[in-house]
Amino acid sequence: MGVTGGIAAYKSLDVLRILQRQGHGVSVVMTHTAERFVGSASFSALSGREVGTHLFGDAEQPGYHHLDVNDGKDIMLVAPASANTISQMASGAASSLLTSCYLAFRGPVVVAPAMNTSMWLHPATARNINTLRADGVHLVEPESGLLADGAVGPGRLAEPNVIVAAVEAVLAGAPSRRDLAGVRVLVSAGGTREPIDAVRYVGNRSSGRMGWALAAAARDRGADVTVVQANVDLPREPGIRYVDAPTAAAMHDSCRAEFPQCDMLIMCAAVADYRPVAAADGKLDKSTADALTVQMERTTDILAELAALRDEQVLVGFAAEHGPAGLERARGKRTRKAVDIVVHNDAAVEGAAFEGPDNVVTIIGPGDAEEALPRMSKRQCAERILDAARPLVHAGTVTA
Ligand SMILES: Cc1cc2nc3c(=O)[nH]c(=O)nc-3n(C[C@H](O)[C@H](O)[C@H](O)COP(=O)(O)O)c2cc1C
Repeated sequence: MGVTGGIAAYKSLDVLRILQRQGHGVSVVMTHTAERFVGSASFSALSGREVGTHLFGDAEQPGYHHLDVNDGKDIMLVAPASANTISQMASGAASSLLTSCYLAFRGPVVVAPAMNTSMWLHPATARNINTLRADGVHLVEPESGLLADGAVGPGRLAEPNVIVAAVEAVLAGAPSRRDLAGVRVLVSAGGTREPIDAVRYVGNRSSGRMGWALAAAARDRGADVTVVQANVDLPREPGIRYVDAPTAAAMHDSCRAEFPQCDMLIMCAAVADYRPVAAADGKLDKSTADALTVQMERTTDILAELAALRDEQVLVGFAAEHGPAGLERARGKRTRKAVDIVVHNDAAVEGAAFEGPDNVVTIIGPGDAEEALPRMSKRQCAERILDAARPLVHAGTVTA
């Protein structure tokens, strides 16, 4: 990640943190001017890696070299990208460590410009941006809004989560096809929490990452996406509508309400199978008993209920199982609930299912199809799941 000299440089700390939360390792290179805005110590503390600032090694960074920096990296991001660095990149100048890295880098490059409106609208900048585009650089357009100099107009750095979404999309080899244009996709995500009393709950380890990845992938393929989410602590994506549903009952109500308006439902949320029959008023007092028995009752099977109500919707369910017998159970779940596709993941497999950035899934269906995928990022899994579901969408629905 390259950081250049502008007021928005502090926002790249957020970009770095979100990238890390998504499971990426990040090495930072700063221009000398960037260091006037944010100290390299912040980036090295957060990234846990040395920050590159000098083209030539010195006592501080012996042997530091643009080719070493590039070694083993999958993608280069410049955020914020100043008008000056953009101009150097466009002309092929390589006077800084960052621009030398750019010229020597063979992977995909994402650039998020930030500058005042006059600089952004200047024909020289427009020319340089066009050159970068023609050179295959992925641009994250700056937003319009109030800038640091008090002016209102285009030039403000895109939001950190938008920048990260662009990086994820490029990493996933994001299809430029918009094969879900006009398709309304409903995704449930996260894990429900069932209250025991006013402050305690029964929950599960679902982070919402898989649902978030599905929603972003569907959006990028042109779909109109709604996410019914339970307790997900991840940044919300632009261009996606969110409905909060923290409990199994709320998830049931929201999914029922949204279902008639969707063309594809992907039930990815970990919805509690059981909930306390009644939550105690206030906070249970531990001094009243040595042991506590909480009576639990079954919750509604949302997917099975919606499958019975379906019109022409495509239905995709998830089966998080544990252990070798799980695949067979997942196959059974698909036929029993009459859904088109069940995505099986085995929580016992290293790197699969909950919390992490990757998943290991088997896509069961449609029909007799069954595909066991190797470990890959959740975004890549999402693309494969959408690839499997897309042909089932009613032909008249897709507008592209
Ligand atoms: C307070 C201040 C804020 C600046 N903000 C920006 C900015 O947002 N975008 C930009 O392109 N240049 C900005 N500049 C100008 C750049 O810092 C200058 O062009 C510098 O040469 C960029 O160097 P670099 O591309 O090597 O980081 C700013 C300068 C100052 C003094």
